[in-house]
Amino acid sequence: MRGIILSGGNATRLRPCTKVTSKQLLPVYNRPMIYYPLNTLIKVGIKEILIIISPERAGDYLNLLGSGKDFGVKFTYEIQDKPRGLADAFIIGENFIDQDNVTMILGDNIFEDDLSQDIKSFKSGGKVFAKKVSDPERFGVVKFDASMKAVEIKEKPKQWLSDYAITGLYIFDSRVVKAAKSLKPSERGELEITDLQNWYLKKGELEVAMINGEWIDAGTFNSLLAAQILAKEKLQDKLII
Ligand code: DAU
Repeated sequence: MRGIILSGGNATRLRPCTKVTSKQLLPVYNRPMIYYPLNTLIKVGIKEILIIISPERAGDYLNLLGSGKDFGVKFTYEIQDKPRGLADAFIIGENFIDQDNVTMILGDNIFEDDLSQDIKSFKSGGKVFAKKVSDPERFGVVKFDASMKAVEIKEKPKQWLSDYAITGLYIFDSRVVKAAKSLKPSERGELEITDLQNWYLKKGELEVAMINGEWIDAGTFNSLLAAQILAKEKLQDKLII
């Protein structure tokens, strides 16, 4: 299993705080934001981690994280020159992934749950994690049938589809590279991660599990504040870096 942290993008929603630095380097209580998704991957025992960053901020990441030696892992860096969408990470990561399975986590997603068992026991196909939220229109959303089988996945649906958001941690087998290369940009001009999930869903190879603990996408000022509080009150004794 290899790991990817997607940590590029412009973070225009957090201006002016992101005018001179990357969103994922902003402090979340006593650590830079990216330490939280890094913790999630390192806890699993993943040793090879690709960090995808924007060219403007590359030096900041190298200065902060270095080779990975200090954390007992190896970091590889790739530049995403334009925010082409989340699925672009698997095209950028083609050589890095090679024939392995891969877990991608978004650099602004903070999980209370330890997902190590799910990641370690993954064999093939795709696996994602859902969480009931009060603002599903902000997220990729999954609709379940009466037996809680996933039947439809949509990115930020304009009309209500379900209250279950898909969180920003994705486990795929190496076919994800081929699938990502086959995608066409959406109306908003991005290669959508939900299209990749649908690629596996249509084949009957997507598992959707539930997240029990708290989960925060820290991409807005309000969710960033919530993340600070979660980090202070609940995460400190769970962090290994
Ligand atoms: O947080 C979970 C949600 O993340 C999912 O439910 C959605 O399906 C998924 O599309 C994504 O939605 P967001 O609106 O949060 O995506 P955002 O554009 O904010 O990008 C997520 C992170 O990925 C953010 O930290 C910036 C980074 N990013 C984004 C894009 C589009 C990149 O590094 N490169 C990109 O091209």
